Amino acid sequence: MSRADSWWREGVIYQIYPRSFQDSNGDGVGDLGGIIRRLPYVAELGADAVWLSPIFPSPMADFGYDICDYTDIHPAFGTLADFDSLLATAHQLGLKVILDLVPNHTSDQHPWFRESREARENPKREWYLWRDPAPGGGVPNNWLSEFGGSAWEYDRRTGQYYYHAFLPAQPDLNWRSSEVRAAIYDAMRFWLRRGVDGFRVDVIWHLIKDDQFRDNPPNPDYHGSDPPSRALLPFYTADQPEVHEVIAQMRSVTEEFGARVLIGEIYLPIERLVAYYGRDLSGLHLPLNFSLLLAPWQARTIAGLIEQYETSLPPGGWPNWVLGNHDQPRVATRVGADQARIAAMLLLTLRGTPTVYYGDEIGMSEAAIAPDKIRDPVAARISGRGRDGCRTPMQWDGTSNAGFSPVEPWLPVSPNFSELNVERQRSDQDSIFNLFRRLIRLRRRTPALASGSYHPLVASGDLLLYVRQKQPDRILVALNLSGDPTAVELSSGTLAGTVAVSSAGDRDGEEVHGRLDLRGNEGAVIALAPETILP
Ligand code: GLC
Repeated sequence: MSRADSWWREGVIYQIYPRSFQDSNGDGVGDLGGIIRRLPYVAELGADAVWLSPIFPSPMADFGYDICDYTDIHPAFGTLADFDSLLATAHQLGLKVILDLVPNHTSDQHPWFRESREARENPKREWYLWRDPAPGGGVPNNWLSEFGGSAWEYDRRTGQYYYHAFLPAQPDLNWRSSEVRAAIYDAMRFWLRRGVDGFRVDVIWHLIKDDQFRDNPPNPDYHGSDPPSRALLPFYTADQPEVHEVIAQMRSVTEEFGARVLIGEIYLPIERLVAYYGRDLSGLHLPLNFSLLLAPWQARTIAGLIEQYETSLPPGGWPNWVLGNHDQPRVATRVGADQARIAAMLLLTLRGTPTVYYGDEIGMSEAAIAPDKIRDPVAARISGRGRDGCRTPMQWDGTSNAGFSPVEPWLPVSPNFSELNVERQRSDQDSIFNLFRRLIRLRRRTPALASGSYHPLVASGDLLLYVRQKQPDRILVALNLSGDPTAVELSSGTLAGTVAVSSAGDRDGEEVHGRLDLRGNEGAVIALAPETILP
C-alpha cells in the first residue's frame, strides 16, 4: 500500500458535529458555509481528515441520524453546491472529507418507508422489518430499543409492527434485501463520485438481525443504572455473522474508487470488535475502538486494554483510538481538566489512527443543560443519558455566543467560553490546543510515532509507560495518570534522551539521564538517545 493510499493510517481524523461547529447564515445552527470558513483552523491544528456527522435531509428527530434522502444536503446546512465547495476547499488544504453513512435505519419520513407502510403488498414492504403481532396480541418478541422501551412500533393501517433499534421515527432497513443493499451502495457511489474520501458507517454491527426473530436472553449482569436495553443480551439483534458479508460488499464499493476509507461505529468488546476487519482484511479499514472512551481512567486498566487490543488485532489490521464523540460525555469532564492533557498525549502517541472530537483540542467540558434547553430525544426517554452536553457550540472566542453564531444557538454555549476558547488558547503557548498541535506535529515528523511498533514497559501505580519504535528512532511515552508525583526509572538498562513534548510545555528540550521525575498530572514524550538500553 503506497503512502498516498494509506493516509488514514498515519493521519489524524477530526470529527465535526455540523450543527455546532460554525453558523454562517445567522439561524443559530451550524452549516456547511461555517465549516468551510473554519477548515483552515482544522488544518492549523494539524488534522488530516474531517468526518462530518450527517448533513443530509432529515426531520432531525435524532439530529440527522434519521435520513429522508441519502443523496442531498439538508437546507439548514446548505446545498450540494456548498458541499462541493467544502470538498474543494478541504482538498486544497490537504484535508480529506469523510461522511457519515447511516444505513441501519432511515427516517420514518423517507419515501421508502412511506411506501413500505402503505400496504402489506407494497413492493417496498420488504425493505423494512414488519412482523405480525404475537399470537395473543402485542409485540412480536422481546427486542428492546437502544433508546428505551420496545423496539416494535404498531402500525394501525396494516396491523403489523415495524422494528426500530433506536427511535420509532427511525425504522430499521431490512439488510437481507438485495434491493436495500443496492440502494445504499448507490448512495455511497453518489458521494464517492463527488469526491468524498470515505465513510464512517453508523451502528454497523446492528445491520443484520436474526431471521427467526428469536427472543433475546436476559442479561444476568444488568444493573439498574444501565440503559434499559441492557436488560437483555443482544444475541439476536446485533453482531450477527451475516453482517460481515454486507461489510465486505461496502468495502468493495469503496474500492471501486481507489484510496478511500471505510470506518465503522461498533460498540463491542475487543474480542468481538476485531472480527470487523473481516476475513483477510476484507472488512472495515477501521472498526472504531471505543475502549478508551468507556474504560475507567486508571493506568493499569488502560495498560491492560491497550495490551489486549494490540494482541487481538488480526495481522495487518491497523489500530485506532477514540477519546470522545457526539454520544459520550466530554473527555475533559470524564477525566478532569488536568488529565485531559494526559489523555491527549495518550491518544496521539498510541499506535493507530486517532479521532479527535471537535472542541476536545481546547478541553471543552460537558455543559449542564437547563431542562427547557434540552434537545436530544434520548434525554426524555432515558434519564441521565441525554447527549446535549457534549454537542454544545464550538467555543471560538470570547464574543457573544462564543463566535459561533450572531443569534442564540440551537444549544446553549457552555458558560466557560470566555476563558475557554480557541482565540485565547492560540496565543497561549502552554494551552491544551498548543499541546495538541505540538503532538500532532511531532507525530507527522516522527515515523516511530506515526507508524512504529508499540512496546509496553513495566510500570506500576498510576504510571503508563511505553515505547514506540521504528529503527533507528525510539520514543518513550511516560504518562502520570494521577495528581501525585512519580518517577520514571527502568527496571534494568539505561535511560537517556530528550523531552520532545511535555504536557505543560515547560520541559520541552530537557535532557533525561537515568531517571525522569514527573509532577502530578504530567506526561512526557521522550526521544530516546542511542545509548538507552531498554529492559
Ligand atoms: C449512532 C450515532 C448516534 C445515533 C444512533 C442512531 O450511535 O452515533 O448519535 O443516535 O446511531 O442513529
